[in-house]
Amino acid sequence: MSQQFDVVVIGAGPGGYIAAIRAAQLGFSTACIDDFKGRDGKPALGGTCLNVGCIPSKALLQSSEHFHALEHEFAEHGINVQGASFDTAKMAARKDGIVSKLTAGVAFLFKKNKIASLHGLGRLLGRENEKWQIEVRDGDTVETIEATQVIVATGSRPRPLPGIAIDNRQILDNAGALALTETPKRLGVIGAGVIGLEMGSVWARLGTEVSILEAMPTFLAAADQQIAKEALSSLSKGTGLNIRMGVKIGAITQGDSVKVEYEHDGKAQTLEVDKLIVAIGRVPNTEGLGAQSVGLQVDERGFVVVDELCHTNLPNIWAVGDVVRGPMLAHKAMEEGVAVAERIAGQKPHVDFNSIPFVIYTSPEIAWVGKTEEQLKAAGIAYKKGTSTFAANGRALGLGQAKGTVKLLADAQTDRILGMHVIGPMASELVTEGVLALEFKAASEDIARIVHAHPTLSEVVHEAALACDKRALHG
Ligand code: FAD
Ligand code: NAI
Repeated sequence: MSQQFDVVVIGAGPGGYIAAIRAAQLGFSTACIDDFKGRDGKPALGGTCLNVGCIPSKALLQSSEHFHALEHEFAEHGINVQGASFDTAKMAARKDGIVSKLTAGVAFLFKKNKIASLHGLGRLLGRENEKWQIEVRDGDTVETIEATQVIVATGSRPRPLPGIAIDNRQILDNAGALALTETPKRLGVIGAGVIGLEMGSVWARLGTEVSILEAMPTFLAAADQQIAKEALSSLSKGTGLNIRMGVKIGAITQGDSVKVEYEHDGKAQTLEVDKLIVAIGRVPNTEGLGAQSVGLQVDERGFVVVDELCHTNLPNIWAVGDVVRGPMLAHKAMEEGVAVAERIAGQKPHVDFNSIPFVIYTSPEIAWVGKTEEQLKAAGIAYKKGTSTFAANGRALGLGQAKGTVKLLADAQTDRILGMHVIGPMASELVTEGVLALEFKAASEDIARIVHAHPTLSEVVHEAALACDKRALHG
């Protein structure tokens, strides 16, 4: 007889592994199927995020930021280092160590929570007697398991550029970009999105000549445009990224180098680089899931169709994370995973999609939550705005990172915070105050009257809140 579970999760990325843990905590017998293999060819849990996404990229960003600071910022502190060098292979090995530690951590958590971890490709076969049958295929080994509830968390993969083959030698996707062990002399990136800016920053800080080609005319179109303009200037002048907007990519040819033909301002141009990263967005993983054969509704772009509670069109099948609508972010996937496990247990959790923070880990960091000024204008919502910069903040000056701005947007009538936008040091951490403000429906006056420790970066948030009411003390 096939193994039977209360809950089977397909995919062990942040959406899936967290859903499995929460389901097990709630007392359900749980299995999680995942097909990912690490670079050593062994099964590795944690999905895109832990293996080839959030975690390795942040490790490389930190190493390269240290080196950049040593070369360009330490002298100002009176620290003089001669003959500094950079060992790219060691940076890569450190990153691999962090990845292994965290993927092994997920395996440990599965064991601790008595979750059956099944390696292979999961495919929905059908439903009989209120039980879903799921095939688990690992090479030639095939087994069928049964589940009362199924959570699809199969994530996403890089969107291909038509006609361009990723070889992860010269033309790289995110996995190839994160696996480099030598610093390229010239790097090209197609797509000035989150991956392009983060990976471009890593290599630019280590001395690589980085050129980014972006199709859209507007830089970071989803971000507040005041912050986006400041970011474009900082990343171009500070980090040294050569960003060209509004290009049309033409032929790409490979030889000793990679040549990218493109059109910019109506002129034909060629970019010659040693490595080329293609980062033009991601597409959901629904191929091989058996969606069509069981009638699981998938939209024209391949996303599993769900309602706001992550129900699919089929009974007891749920879907979370990158494979469904909404931003492709690990924290969004995790919160959906928790919520679905709790809904299966009859609880009534809530995920507020209006207060999901976005972070780009460049230097300075960029982070936001809630509405941008452009969105408020388009919706005809009257708002007031308070901005403050890090330029005169004591902590930022001490850190040597006094570039950037905090902007708070509040409803003109009710004073309720509608959005927070930050470019500056530790924007990734500061934005949580905005998330709290949105979740607790705080007014800008609430933030203005909360005591913020001195000297901290968070005082800039405080000043921005005061500025909403035109009573900034340091502005
Ligand atoms: P995934 O993490 O993609 O996991 C899905 C898993 O399911 C994979 O292991 C996959 O192999 C497996 N799978 C697929 N189909 C099947 C099947 N049929 N059977 C069995 N297994 C299957 N997000 C952030 O919030 N912060 C960041 O800093 C950040 N940085 C990123 C950097 C990069 C370079 C990239 C590429 C992404 C980054 N992201 C970041 C996005 C983040 O990685 C994703 O949003 C997140 O991993 C989505 O989680 P998920 O569980 O939905 O899917
Ligand atoms: P993205 O959507 O952020 O950016 C892709 C960019 O490529 C866009 O600016 C788009 O206009 C451009 N583009 C598309 N087609 C193009 C073409 N033919 N030529 C030139 N430019 C083109 O996607 P990206 O950077 O691939 O990242 C994928 C996702 O992974 C992100 O959307 C995000 O959800 C997640 N991610 C999150 C991170 C974070 O939270 N810090 C870090 C990295 C990735």
